[in-house]
Amino acid sequence: TALGPLTVVSNRLPVVMCQEGPGWKVEPGAGGLVAAMRPILERQGGCWVGWPGAVKEEGGGWEQALAAAGERAGYALEPVVMSRDQYQGYYEGFANSVIWPLFHGFADRCSFVARDFERYQEVNQHFADATMRCVGTQGLVWVHDYHLFEVAARMRDGGHQGRLAFFLHISFPGLENYAKLPWRRELLRGLMAHDLVGFQTARDVRNFVRCAEAFGMCGVLRHEGGQALLVAEDGRQVEAGAFPIGMDFEAFSERASGEEVERRVRDLQDEIGPYRMLLGIDRLDYTKGLIHRLRAYELMLERHPELQEQVVFFQLVVPSRENVVEYKALKREFDRVVGRINGRFSTSGWQPIRYLYNRVDPVELAALYRLAVVALVTPLRDGMNLVAKEYCACQVDENGALVLSEFAGAAAQLGEGAVLVNPYDREATARAIARAVQMDEARRRTRMRQMRQVIAQSDVYWWAERFLEQAQEAPRPGEGFA
Ligand code: G6P
Repeated sequence: TALGPLTVVSNRLPVVMCQEGPGWKVEPGAGGLVAAMRPILERQGGCWVGWPGAVKEEGGGWEQALAAAGERAGYALEPVVMSRDQYQGYYEGFANSVIWPLFHGFADRCSFVARDFERYQEVNQHFADATMRCVGTQGLVWVHDYHLFEVAARMRDGGHQGRLAFFLHISFPGLENYAKLPWRRELLRGLMAHDLVGFQTARDVRNFVRCAEAFGMCGVLRHEGGQALLVAEDGRQVEAGAFPIGMDFEAFSERASGEEVERRVRDLQDEIGPYRMLLGIDRLDYTKGLIHRLRAYELMLERHPELQEQVVFFQLVVPSRENVVEYKALKREFDRVVGRINGRFSTSGWQPIRYLYNRVDPVELAALYRLAVVALVTPLRDGMNLVAKEYCACQVDENGALVLSEFAGAAAQLGEGAVLVNPYDREATARAIARAVQMDEARRRTRMRQMRQVIAQSDVYWWAERFLEQAQEAPRPGEGFA
């Protein structure tokens, strides 16, 4: 491929250091960003700058285990260390109690705290310093996601002269929501410090350009077809574009057809019984629409008594951000609703919903994807949603159906093959679930094949190559209109 060693900067490293007794244990990181970038770094080598999962107050001792994990992975892991106070303000506070809810359209869940924004800025400075320890003042740097809007600006202040590119994994909100942010100019200025800013969809690009223009942070030289050429306050040119993220299609597809997975599929079917499995896989997050999904499934059972004792909905819930207030209540609510629906419909041998609150390994994951006749991917808002793509990649028998929210970035690519739903519309979602379960085989196959083709063509390597090529061609700093 065209790519050489990379410098990637993201909040999370692909591993998390967890204290275990007197020592440290290395655990894999979860979430879409890590899942997408891990295979890229494995292939290209280079350096990944990020948070190792421990804070200053926990003391050191993890450094060796981290370096060893980097050696095993084939690229360097450069840790960014912060105090507990900084971590709380930056990660739990500003990133996940302001940007995350606001950018997903949940302004009411935001808690705007000025002190958290200060911590966010301090930590972005730490990331800039750590990155410059890796690359010096030259070289292309690829910064990821909403935790790190201000890293590039700080690197420029620190004298970095190479190209700086940014990719936002989550959606960018429309002007009405974005305008509510007390620090709306600061974040836009941070993004405008890059040479290239990438988003998941053309709609995100549009939202970004509109906000940057509205708050006087850019002039627009060109904007069409999901690509824009902007000019920053200081006269530099900045490109913005849509780069829908992919996944490692081949790896998933191969794993799913392997013997180990096939064995696991048979065992799982035994555990579940003679029912057809509907599947949901999500981090426990209010953006994922879990409660809406349960209620739509409930309505489906009510409207289609013939499907009772025919299907089981298996939901895997991956623990996430457990210290953030808005996430704590969700677990309780989820448990309550599952209990209520199971109480209402269960018979002696059948329970309509089964769920697991845990992480699972790649084999288990592939087996679940492969076994499911329908996947329910119904977020209320999602940048892309890789679960939708992973499901299709693992459907090697091309026999499953995907129910997909129109508010997931993936809908822009998979809209024709999936059964699209508005997850806020309980009736329509219930109908869509039934339709997916009852879809005739020929149609299911055609649609699945079509989605698999799109996903295979635009896999994660294609995505990274396209992005990095454009980053390398982006106007050099200082080439603007100054
Ligand atoms: C989303 C974000 C990622 C994040 C992941 C997991 O996919 O875009 O940046 O890493 O969620 O969330 P966490 O807070 O555990 O990193």
